[in-house]
Amino acid sequence: MPLPKAELHLHIEGTLEPELAFALAARNGLTLPWADTEELRHAYRFEDLQSFLNLYYELMTVLRTEQDFEDLANAYLARAAAQGVRHAEIFFDPQAHLARGVAMGTVVEGLWRALGASEANHGISTALILCFLRDESAASALATLDAAKPHLDRITGVGLDSAEVGHPPVKFREVFEAAAALGLRRVAHAGEEGPPEYITEALDVLGVERVDHGLRCMEDGALVERLVRERIPLTLCPLSNVRLRTVDTLADHPLPAMLDAGLLCTVNSDDPAYFGGYVGDNFDAVAERLGLTEDRLRELARNSFLASFLEHDEERRARYIAEVEAYTFS
Ligand code: HPA
Ligand code: ZN
Repeated sequence: MPLPKAELHLHIEGTLEPELAFALAARNGLTLPWADTEELRHAYRFEDLQSFLNLYYELMTVLRTEQDFEDLANAYLARAAAQGVRHAEIFFDPQAHLARGVAMGTVVEGLWRALGASEANHGISTALILCFLRDESAASALATLDAAKPHLDRITGVGLDSAEVGHPPVKFREVFEAAAALGLRRVAHAGEEGPPEYITEALDVLGVERVDHGLRCMEDGALVERLVRERIPLTLCPLSNVRLRTVDTLADHPLPAMLDAGLLCTVNSDDPAYFGGYVGDNFDAVAERLGLTEDRLRELARNSFLASFLEHDEERRARYIAEVEAYTFS
């Protein structure tokens, strides 16, 4: 039995496996520019975040109908359940779909068909986080939040993703203020490729409660002290960092130093269909390559529940954490 955990940094479009992409393309009468899944997999060699995003946006064009989004989410939930996930807070990128003429309702209600039944079907509680694309305009983000208003009962929070450098958090001050006024939780990608200042800005200007990646905080001692003092969770994605060349090799990953510094780190998969593994695979990889002790692995799992948006259900959070404490490694 795998270590129980929450996954807090997972782009649902990044769970689109080549086999499902080809199946959805066929179902929707679309032709992909790759001959087959093998040829597509050969394209999964990335130089940096942008080279990944180019493929990520191209492949997700096979997602057209509610059924497509439901199938995508169910495929992820089944894999996550097999790797010990008890709770998943799932990002989606509506602007990438709206731009292709797919309605907000198709995306959200399609995902919800899987998420709403996830506890019964997969034993996983879920939350949905709407991400704004930071390489689109602030006005587009505001229009996207507006389009989401009929579906807010399905949405727990907002986030910020896509190409980071040159798109500082301050660009999205207004939409994050509007989201907060609607009672939405706030997170943002910061310090993946962007500088430590983007992390500070995400906290101070956007009011985020959690930082996605946040890796580059390690370049600023005062920022690390602040993140420790304020117990700001970081959602790290080790295999993603290797594939997008944020770190040279997994053995160079700063996770052990971050834990030693007292940071509230979590381990997640980001875009598991593209980066070589789901969240359990990320745990296994850091355990092996970074020599993490069982106590450290338990700490990461405990942190994932502490960092999750389960405030409405403290009894559930306590139950998940008790499972972690009772877990024995085989
Ligand atoms: N970083 C930024 N944007 C993204 C990512 C990521 O790792 N995955 C999907 N969108
Ligand atoms: Zn991400």
